[in-house]
Formats: sequence, structure tokens, C-alpha cells
Amino acid sequence: MKLGLIGFPVEHSLSPWMQEAALKAAGLEGSYRALETPPPFLRARLLEIRRDYTGVNVTIPHKESVLPHLDELSPEARAIGAVNTIVCDQHRLIGYNTDAPGFISGLDEAGISYRNKKALLLGAGGAARAIAYALKEEGAHVAVYNRTQGRAQALCEALGLHVVSEPLLEAAVRSCDLLINTTSVGLQDPLSSPLPEGLLPREGAVVDIIYNPPLTRLMQEAQKAGLPTLGGLSMLVWQGALAFELWTGVKADVQVMYEAARARLG
Ligand code: ATR
Repeated sequence: MKLGLIGFPVEHSLSPWMQEAALKAAGLEGSYRALETPPPFLRARLLEIRRDYTGVNVTIPHKESVLPHLDELSPEARAIGAVNTIVCDQHRLIGYNTDAPGFISGLDEAGISYRNKKALLLGAGGAARAIAYALKEEGAHVAVYNRTQGRAQALCEALGLHVVSEPLLEAAVRSCDLLINTTSVGLQDPLSSPLPEGLLPREGAVVDIIYNPPLTRLMQEAQKAGLPTLGGLSMLVWQGALAFELWTGVKADVQVMYEAARARLG
């Protein structure tokens, strides 16, 4: 079976390593390739996938722009407005979003509870949207803070969530059960944090969806304060494991996927 990842750029992706390890562990013949797809070539790439592939993952910058090219969307993908997994079924392209359930599976695995809990999301981009949707579906009370408040407002109106304004940020952070960084702060500069130093939940868990570096500044501070933490690798692995299941009909060996990703990260 032919699988792959469409995005731009894709050369540093861990997905080929994780997915090929999962194929091997399941005893399945197949390949998973990074298919570099600059935006002007998206249409041509999807024709190729329709013709030859069992399925692909979709990453930046195509998670939203791919929607009009698909024949069908899962209810999650439609509600989130973003697709990270395409299944090609008899040349029909069906879009799914496994980022949302992948995030939840990561919390479950780490023993972090969210049902009826107060979750505060930092950021209002595509990743925030999938996570906010998933948490709300699972019965969490979700609030969103973003540097650009208008973006948080739009997200909250679309999904029925609470906006947190700048003056209320401190109180919202301190009282939340679950703080989730979905911004890119900490990705390029490991010393930067989306929150001022010392501002942390009083007793809530801290999740950062960044997986490289494995310990962001925010997570380091949370660990020092004795709070439960979770990094971004679990969401990456679980979204991949759920995509694998959609393509193959077989459960992925999640531990093998973790090992492949960690080996690659070094
Ligand atoms: P993704 O799809 O990965 O979520 P995105 O749509 O580019 O990426 O969103 C990036 C998020 O990180 C946004 O919430 C962005 O805030 P703005 O909407 O104000 O741009 C946030 N972000 C990026 N750099 C930031 C910074 N230096 N400080 C605070 N927030 C930042």
C-alpha cells in the first residue's frame, strides 16, 4: 500500500519513520513517503493520490486548503474545518481529522483528566481549533486566550467557547485544571514562553504541543513547580496511529511509533 504526507516543507517530518515502523510491526507491505507539495501543485498531487494511493497525511500549509478538493468529510473534519488525514477509497478522497482524537488519546495515556474540567488554550490557530473542538466534545469547559484577541473571538464564536481577555489572563491561568500551549512560542527560541515567568496554574496540568524541543521553557517551569506535564510527542504519535488505523484497518503499535519518533529526534 502506498501512503505519504503532503505538505511544504516536509523534509524534517517524523511521520515517514513512525508510519514505516508501524507498517513493519503490523507485517504489512507498503511505503510512506514525504511528498513535498508547494501550494501551486496541490491539485496535481491530489490527482496522483486519487489514482495511486491508499491514503495520506496532510500538514502545513494544506490542512484547510485541501477541503474543497475532497469528495467527503468526516463530521470532525467538517466541524474543525481542517483535514490531517485523507483516505482514498476506490479513487474517492475522504477527509478526516485525527489531530483532535489524537490529542485526547495522549491525555488519556498520560492520565490527565479533562471531563468537566476547566481547560485554557493559549493560541487560536489551526492546532487550537482541533484541540478546542476535541476537548469540548469530551465535556471540558474550554476558554481561549490569544495574542490577537479577534482571532480568539472568531474561534470561540464558531465553537461556542469562552474568550479570555488580557486583564483576565492571570486569573484564568491560575484557576485552570488544564493549560495547553498551542502557539509556536518556544519552538524557535527554547528560552521563550507564551506566559510571563512564574505565571502557572495553581494545581492544573500543563500541556505543550511542541515536541521539539521535548521540554519547552513552559514545561520546565511547570515541572519545577511540581505540576503534571505533557509534551507534544504524544499528540504527534497518536494522530499518526489513528490515521494508520483508518488506512489499514489494523491497530498501530503505538510503542513502536514512539520509539521510531524518539530515535529520529535523537
Ligand atoms: P497552527 O496552525 O500551527 O496553530 P497558526 O495558525 O500560525 O499555526 O497559529 C499560531 C498561533 O501562535 C497563533 O495563535 C499566534 O497568535 P496570533 O494569532 O496573535 O498571531 C500564536 N503566536 C505565534 N507567535 C506568537 C508570539 N510571539 N506570541 C504570542 N503568540 C504567538
